[in-house]
Amino acid sequence: MANQGLDPIETASRDEIAALQRTRIAWSLRHAYENVPHYRAAFAAAGVHPDDFHDLPDLAKFPFTTKQDLRANYPFGLFAVPREQVARIHASSGTTGQPTVVGYTARDLETWAAVVARSLYAAGARRGMLLHNAYGYGLFTGGLGVHDGAHRLGCTVVPVSGGMTERQVRLIADFRPDIITITPSYMLSILDEFHRQGLDPRASSLKVGIFGAEPWTNAMRQEIESGFAMDAVDIYGLSEVIGPGVASECVETKDGPVIWEDHFYPEVIDPDTGAVLAEGEPGELVFTTLTKEAMPVIRYRTRDLTRLLPGTARSMRRMAKVTGRSDDMLIVRGVNLFPTQIEEHLLKSPLLTGHYQIVLTRTGRMDEVKIQVEARPQFTDAALLHAEARTVAARIKDTVGLTAVVAIEKEGTIERSIGKARRVIDLRPKD
Ligand code: DLL
Repeated sequence: MANQGLDPIETASRDEIAALQRTRIAWSLRHAYENVPHYRAAFAAAGVHPDDFHDLPDLAKFPFTTKQDLRANYPFGLFAVPREQVARIHASSGTTGQPTVVGYTARDLETWAAVVARSLYAAGARRGMLLHNAYGYGLFTGGLGVHDGAHRLGCTVVPVSGGMTERQVRLIADFRPDIITITPSYMLSILDEFHRQGLDPRASSLKVGIFGAEPWTNAMRQEIESGFAMDAVDIYGLSEVIGPGVASECVETKDGPVIWEDHFYPEVIDPDTGAVLAEGEPGELVFTTLTKEAMPVIRYRTRDLTRLLPGTARSMRRMAKVTGRSDDMLIVRGVNLFPTQIEEHLLKSPLLTGHYQIVLTRTGRMDEVKIQVEARPQFTDAALLHAEARTVAARIKDTVGLTAVVAIEKEGTIERSIGKARRVIDLRPKD
């Protein structure tokens, strides 16, 4: 039966994986070149041809693909098959400009369901388990992507989507799911709602949560695991490459998402020079799809910053937890930082929750940073909270080098996400 147990490739030798990758990259380069005018032109401009690919390091000769290329070919210009053969379309929300559109053939949808099923299995999901899917359904890939994979694995899927938090909790209490799939920030809202309804989250039926679609730290993992008495694992993906299930963590190791390297070939590059970096070095993650028919991507720059790590529970390589997107890096008074660095410090404090936002303003020529965070409800003493705010600010100053005001607010003050959290509010004038 498909996806009961491991796919043989998950435990294959590195040589077998590399051989498969060579064959598949050769196919994907040719498929893109022959069917997508953009790739034909981009390869020609870089002076390369699919025939120049003989072995894995040759991939570095080929040009990168960027989000800008997707926008320039809006909506269907990067499709490598006639539109009639595209079985489904997804798109990014387009809050920052034109939406980016992606397409799947029926076979791509099968591939996607297979890699998501593999991801769920790695997290501990099994046939017959009940899975509460709170990723948003619609053009976003989270809801339907996880749905099809869970169906494929043989789970009972509850397609709740995001939002209506009170109802989420009622359904969890009544249906008794084993697994929840949801963004980590929204899981914190669910945790609050359990308390509000007087329910003990640690007594819930949930055994495993499969969290992704936004950066989150190991400190957040601990917060969720202790809040619910469950295992929390990391699922990674992006719509341009397929959606959720590009990489996913094994529950027995929790040491970073395993990249499903038989379908997605990873590289980590220096974001400034584009040079390919050695395993273990931090840089920008780049993916080439190996099997995608409708919309192959060649060396797609994800903007996600991470490192490649050797395989542990599987033969495939892992990626370290994403620190952030290069677009989300804050540059404040010459200090570069990511929201995840702040998150780790906030969650070190036993008084604080994981609900936080970073507000940037400018007074004169000076950038000001305010970190808004909520106190756990049992801590209300103003003097205690004031002292804690100063301690946390000092710790952030010492480790990250950032001078910031930490403002501890009462529960419910900070905007809640039902999907990807908005961690940064930049009110600085654009110049
Ligand atoms: O967020 C796909 C997804 C859905 C992944 C559900 C996991 C679970 P996009 O909307 O295209 O697709 O956004 C992709 O989200 O480039 C990362 O910046 C971020 N991201 C996704 N998963 C993780 C993760 C979906 N586990 C963008 N850790 C990516 C950190 C993540 N960032």
